[in-house]
Amino acid sequence: MSRYRPVRKAVFPVAGLGTRFLPATKAVPKEMLTVVDKPVIQYVVEEARAAGIEHFVFVTGRNKGVIEDHFDIQVELQQTLQDRGKTEALEILQAALPAPGQTSFTRQQAPLGLGHAVWCAREIVGDEPFALLLPDMIMQYEKGCLSSMVELYEKVGGNIVSTEEVAMEETHKYGIVMRGQDVEGGFRLEGMVEKPARGTAPSNLFINGRYILQPEIFSILATQQAGTGGEIQLTDAMLTLAEKQPFFGYTFTGRTFDCGSKEGFIKANIAYALANPELSQILRPEMEALLSEVSPKK
Ligand code: UTP
Repeated sequence: MSRYRPVRKAVFPVAGLGTRFLPATKAVPKEMLTVVDKPVIQYVVEEARAAGIEHFVFVTGRNKGVIEDHFDIQVELQQTLQDRGKTEALEILQAALPAPGQTSFTRQQAPLGLGHAVWCAREIVGDEPFALLLPDMIMQYEKGCLSSMVELYEKVGGNIVSTEEVAMEETHKYGIVMRGQDVEGGFRLEGMVEKPARGTAPSNLFINGRYILQPEIFSILATQQAGTGGEIQLTDAMLTLAEKQPFFGYTFTGRTFDCGSKEGFIKANIAYALANPELSQILRPEMEALLSEVSPKK
């Protein structure tokens, strides 16, 4: 039994505009774009559920109603599948459904930044630690990233930020952490810097979109001024919280795909399709043929 308060709730900020994916995201939220056969958001909710999360809090915005529908029962569809004996499809639908009362939806009325989106969840989360999962980052793993973070949290408490290795020459694109002493399979987090200038990154560990945070972050976010890009930044609030509370880093050893970018989204589709034995058998030769067609002629 851990002496720290359990992490029961997870927050999914899904209120961003998804401008990098226009026009696809004009009417369809980017979190509902499909990687092989599931919307991106479903992968992330499944990861949270596998980590023992009991309550799923979605911070949504305009045009995001379809996310709420996705995690609700669809009576007519279920009845039709049952009448037609499509039990496999029915089971797939039911497995994805959180139990009644396990989801909450709140609106971020204007996309003022990730920090502001997290703050919008304060009334639903209340005074307890919570997980934060960025829904456009999906992860291929043996063991879920959040599950491993919860294990670390049960030993060390405090706040936990997940990280992953990236090539040193790529560090200027990400939030990068400063690594301290090793602790219980994680490490003490000595600092964080958003998109460091080339050649100045304090490590090659980028923040890959999974956090466990203490509720004191909310009062800091309440008065947080807009930072980079005119948005209320979560990193700025975490740096303030780190002056008063311990922060630990966890290094994820699976692979994260940033489905908010075209490149990451396409890579995710290829990786997940190749990990599916049936699809992989069909796709490999197709891919090889395509590659040989587009290869530059010698
Ligand atoms: P991003 O900056 O990657 O998302 O935010 P975005 O703003 O939708 O993307 P682009 O740059 O316009 O293409 C990371 C996460 O934070 C959420 C986003 O939905 C995304 O999951 N977010 C961001 C909010 O919920 N509200 C905001 O105001 C900003």
